[in-house]
Formats: sequence, structure tokens, C-alpha cells
Amino acid sequence: MERIAVYPGSFDPITNGHVDIVRRGLQVFDRVVIAIAKNIDKTSSLFTPQERVDMIGEVFRGEPRIKVDCFSGLLVEYVTKAGARVIIRGLRAVADFEYEFQMTMMNRHLKPSIETIFMMTSETHFYTSSRLVREVASLGGRVDGLVPDPVVERLVERLAPR
Ligand code: PNS
Repeated sequence: MERIAVYPGSFDPITNGHVDIVRRGLQVFDRVVIAIAKNIDKTSSLFTPQERVDMIGEVFRGEPRIKVDCFSGLLVEYVTKAGARVIIRGLRAVADFEYEFQMTMMNRHLKPSIETIFMMTSETHFYTSSRLVREVASLGGRVDGLVPDPVVERLVERLAPR
């Protein structure tokens, strides 16, 4: 039986920390589904879910074991429909722990058969977050090295002064 894991998130935009987690996931699972949540606060988002799908698709082009998708509604329902039983989440600093703990417990309450596993990003990406990338890029700071190259280009395009 194929071992499929779902790696959910907002990915607005995907960072090199996320890419690192996907690659680690591929060492443990046969397939990784990167699942972009649609029903997250749209007012503060920079890219539409479809733009994120396109960007992530570009980053992992030619990788048949990775699927990029969007979902709305409950994550555990999506995971079940995707034929998976595992959710992957990345852990960075201690600050992530409480939020992740709450989400894991809620998902376990909703569907005890689904397991959440945590992976740590490499130390290079420990302090990278999508929120900081958006902030720095919008203020004209450099984000190359923090996000994949296709994302750097889209950030520059999106945030360039008109
Ligand atoms: O990268 P993020 O923004 O921390 O990802 C959060 C995400 C998308 C994993 C979380 O908000 C989520 O699972 N949303 C789907 C709605 C849901 O199932 N909520 C209840 C479980 S906490």
C-alpha cells in the first residue's frame, strides 16, 4: 500500500523551509500532497490559492511523487479523501509548539485515526516564515535564498511599486 502524507498550510508564499520539509517528507512517504487551505483569512493574503498552486507546481515540476492541491473545509476530511492517514507539519522554534499542539489535538478529536507527525526544518530555515517574507519583500528587502527563485520573481512582480 502506498504511504501518502498530506502537508497542509497556507503557503503564502511557499518558503525554502517548506521546500525542505517536503523533501524530508519524501524520504519517509511514497507521495506527499501539498494542500493549500483556501478558507484562511483572505484579507491579509498576498497570493490567491490558484497562484500558490501554480508557484508550488513550478517549484516541484518534474517530481511525480508530489501533488499540489487546494482544499476548503476540514483538513481531516481532505486527508481522508486524499487516501492518506498522516499529516506532516514543520516545526521551527518553540513558539510554533502551542499552535501546533492545539491543531493536532483538534484534528485528533475530529478523526483519531489520522496521525500528525512533525519534522524539523534544517537550521538554515529555522527563522524563515511566510509572514516575514511578505513583510520584508513589501518593504523592498531581499528575500532570495529564503524562498524558491520562481517565488522571488512573483513577489517582486506583485509588490513592485506601480
Ligand atoms: O501554514 P498554516 O497557516 O499554519 O496552516 C494552517 C492550516 C491550514 C493547517 C490549518 O488552518 C487548517 O488545517 N485549516 C483547515 C481547517 C480545519 O481543519 N480546522 C480545524 C483543525 S485545526
